[in-house]
Amino acid sequence: MPNSSAKNTQDNPIPQHVAIIMDGNGRWAKERGLPRIDGHRQGAKQIHQIIEAANEFGIKFLTLYAFSSENWNRPKEEVEALMSLLSSAIRENKKNFIENEIRFRTIGDVSALPKSCVNDIVSLESATKRFDKRTLVLALNYGSRDELVRAVSKITHLALDGKINPNKIAWKNIAENLDTAGIPDPDLLIRTSGEMRLSNYLMLQAAYSELYFTKTYWPDFGRDDFAKAVAEYQRRERRYGLTGDQLK
Ligand code: IPE
Ligand code: IPE
Ligand code: MG
Repeated sequence: MPNSSAKNTQDNPIPQHVAIIMDGNGRWAKERGLPRIDGHRQGAKQIHQIIEAANEFGIKFLTLYAFSSENWNRPKEEVEALMSLLSSAIRENKKNFIENEIRFRTIGDVSALPKSCVNDIVSLESATKRFDKRTLVLALNYGSRDELVRAVSKITHLALDGKINPNKIAWKNIAENLDTAGIPDPDLLIRTSGEMRLSNYLMLQAAYSELYFTKTYWPDFGRDDFAKAVAEYQRRERRYGLTGDQLK
């Protein structure tokens, strides 16, 4: 549906939170006889268009998977190139975030990233923390299992300090110790490039997310593809364990 715009109606609400697995940069480059890093460069450029589209559609939270806790195992040159692309993308987009009043947040263990990246991240986070209408979340050195391990460690310390009763732990206590504390669960989770797996992404938060897979590689995924995914989401019936009749 070219040039369609995602519309918010009472029956078909716009997703409040969309999470995307930006996959396929390497294959995009390979098909063109280019080095993988050119695919990452093109993929990084694409992010701007998708953030603009999210604003246009009225999506409040957009979470992008940029680097997984497993991506460290890629060739050293590729990891280094990704880190340097990350730093420049953050620096180049700073003005944009401030002008458009978008809050920038990260999930994942950012402390393990190179110092210069950490500085760029902290600087953008603090420059945008007063904005509360739209949030862009970047998942960096993120993996659901790693996030859960860190949450369990925090909760264990709270219990040892007598701040939480181990016999009364509820989902709320776990949720508020995940990296996504304060961020609503994703309504829609999109993965590009044709792979149909979660790859350790938001596994607890996506318990009731609508999943959308497209064969399009991330560097080719544009505004109209995004609008198509949102329209498909709007046609889904979210049942949360109820019967279809109960929802009527
Ligand atoms: C996604 O593209 C970007 C990152 C994981 C950083 P890939 O690099 O995974 O691209 P493919 O899957 O090899 O095509
Ligand atoms: C997931 O993609 C991570 C990101 C998009 C950042 P991968 O390409 O790393 O996932 P797998 O290896 O195909 O599962
Ligand atoms: Mg991949």
